[in-house]
Amino acid sequence: MINVALDGPSGAGKSTIAKAVARTFDYIYIDTGAMFRSLAFKALESGIDIASDYEAVEKMLRETVLDIARENGEQQMILDGQNVNAFIRTPEVSKAASDIAVIPFVRQWLLKTERMFAEKYNCIMDGRDIGTSVLPNADVKIFLTASAEARAKRRLAELVEKGVEVSFDEVLAEMQYRDKQDSEREISPLKKAHDAHIADTTELTLDESVNLVCDIIRKVIG
Ligand code: DC
Repeated sequence: MINVALDGPSGAGKSTIAKAVARTFDYIYIDTGAMFRSLAFKALESGIDIASDYEAVEKMLRETVLDIARENGEQQMILDGQNVNAFIRTPEVSKAASDIAVIPFVRQWLLKTERMFAEKYNCIMDGRDIGTSVLPNADVKIFLTASAEARAKRRLAELVEKGVEVSFDEVLAEMQYRDKQDSEREISPLKKAHDAHIADTTELTLDESVNLVCDIIRKVIG
């Protein structure tokens, strides 16, 4: 199977770019952030204080079934039998996802699912630690990045389109919080793999970014 690992900070455009790349090469797109988000959503709904009550998170995981379905080529997160895609993109869930992602047994719990997909499908998998820990032998590794301001601007536009009321400063602050926590956590931090290709999209349009990533893949895979 061909596995492409796409890592980078929040808002670098990973999911939009990965979807386009998946269409171009006929790969399955796997969004691992959505897995962390689904677990964070359940923790919030259950009133669990993620940062201080790891025991409650562990108990929650024992009672959780997380599945992935596909609808029109889009990944759907099925949490305990319910499609939660509509609920996992709010700023509150974004922060909680970053909080829950620092917990080692949460990462371990998801690792099996992530690797199972990579073994079964030609895929492009996006996340923070795909090239460094989830798929260290991925055929192509790409580290997608952009300045914090450019990323916050793009994320704001996405949220506004979805009707979420939020300011640029709030989005930027939330992004900087996540950047720091995702990069500084002890287990599997956000980090460029030594053999990853860097794609900086600060000055690029979406089409240019997609072309850049496709060119990297073609060059490596041939
Ligand atoms: O990619 P995203 O914004 O949907 O991810 C949400 C959070 O999940 C992110 O802040 C960190 C965490 N995450 C992670 O730690 N490892 C991954 N492979 C994917 C996401």
